[in-house]
Amino acid sequence: MTYPRVRKAVFPVAGLGTRFLPATKAMAKEMLTVLDRPLIQHAVDEAASAGIEQFIFVNGRGKSAIDDHFDLAFELERTLEARGKTAELGRSRAMVPMPGNVISVRQQQPKGLGHAVWCARHAVGDEPFAVFLPDDLVLGDRPCIGELVELYERTGGNVVAIQDVPREHTNRYGVLDVGEDDGHVAEVKGLVEKPEPDVAPSTLTIIGRYILLPEMFEHLERQEPTAGNEVQLTDAMAKMIGSAPFHGLRFSGTRFDCGTKLGFLQANLAFGLEDEDVGVDLAAFAKNLLLNKG
Ligand code: UTP
Repeated sequence: MTYPRVRKAVFPVAGLGTRFLPATKAMAKEMLTVLDRPLIQHAVDEAASAGIEQFIFVNGRGKSAIDDHFDLAFELERTLEARGKTAELGRSRAMVPMPGNVISVRQQQPKGLGHAVWCARHAVGDEPFAVFLPDDLVLGDRPCIGELVELYERTGGNVVAIQDVPREHTNRYGVLDVGEDDGHVAEVKGLVEKPEPDVAPSTLTIIGRYILLPEMFEHLERQEPTAGNEVQLTDAMAKMIGSAPFHGLRFSGTRFDCGTKLGFLQANLAFGLEDEDVGVDLAAFAKNLLLNKG
C-alpha cells in the first residue's frame, strides 16, 4: 500500500523560551547557534534532506529574524560578491528555499504546542505532515525525520520519534503506553503528558520529531488546555489511537535538548567535535581543560 508523501513540515517557534532567559529576551530560542547555524536551520536542513519541500513556521511576536534567515540577504550578498568572497556567499545562500516554499503563520498567544500546530492547519491542508521542535537537535549518521518517513512509508498513520529515559525523568515528557514492541518500532497504545515516575506507563518518551495525519487538526480544534494550562499536542495524538496506525520509532542518533543550558552546551561540544575544521583542536582543548580541572 502506498501512502501520501510527506511534503510539508511545521516548525512551532512561538514559545517564550523562558528556560533560556536572558538569552531569549530579544531573540528567539530557535536562533541560538549550534556550531555555525541556528537551531532552526539545523531543523530545516534535516527536513530538506528527507525530501520535505515546504516549511511552515508558526511564529510569535518578535520572531521575524527566523523569516529573514531563510530569505536572500541582498546587501550582505552584494558586498560579499563585490569583495570576491565566493565561499562566504555560498554559505549565506546555502539554505534559501525555493520562492513560495516558506510559509509563516502567527500564533498570537503562546497557548501551547498543540495550539501552535493547529495554527498551521490551513497551510498544511489535507495531507500528512512533519512537525519539528527545533530545540530538539539530533546528531547522527541518518537524519531522524528521514527514519520516521521511511517507517511511515511502510505503516502509514502517525509516527513519532521515541527514546528511553531514566524513570525519574518521565515527568518532563510525553510518555507512551506500548503494545507490540520489537525493540526498534513500538505500537502506541496510549499517551500521557508528563506523568510522575510512579504512574508512568513506560519509560519511552516522545522527542520533537513527528509525522502526523491531517485528522489531528480536528482533535486540536476541540482541544481544551490541560497540563500547564496549555493545549497539549499529546492529548490530541492520544485521541487518534485506534482510528489509524500509530507507531514510535527508536531513532538512531543522539538527541540534545537545546532548550536547556546543559543540552545546548553538550550539543555544541558534540557537533564541534564532529566538525572537520575545528574538531581536532576542540578535542585537544577539551582534554586539556578537563585535565587541569581534575
Ligand atoms: P517548549 O516548551 O520547549 O518551548 O516548546 P518554550 O515554551 O518556548 O520554552 P520554555 O519552557 O519557556 O523555556 C517546544 C516548542 O514548541 C514551541 C516552542 O517555540 C518550541 O519550539 N511552542 C511552544 C510554540 O510555538 N507555541 C507555544 O505556545 C508553546
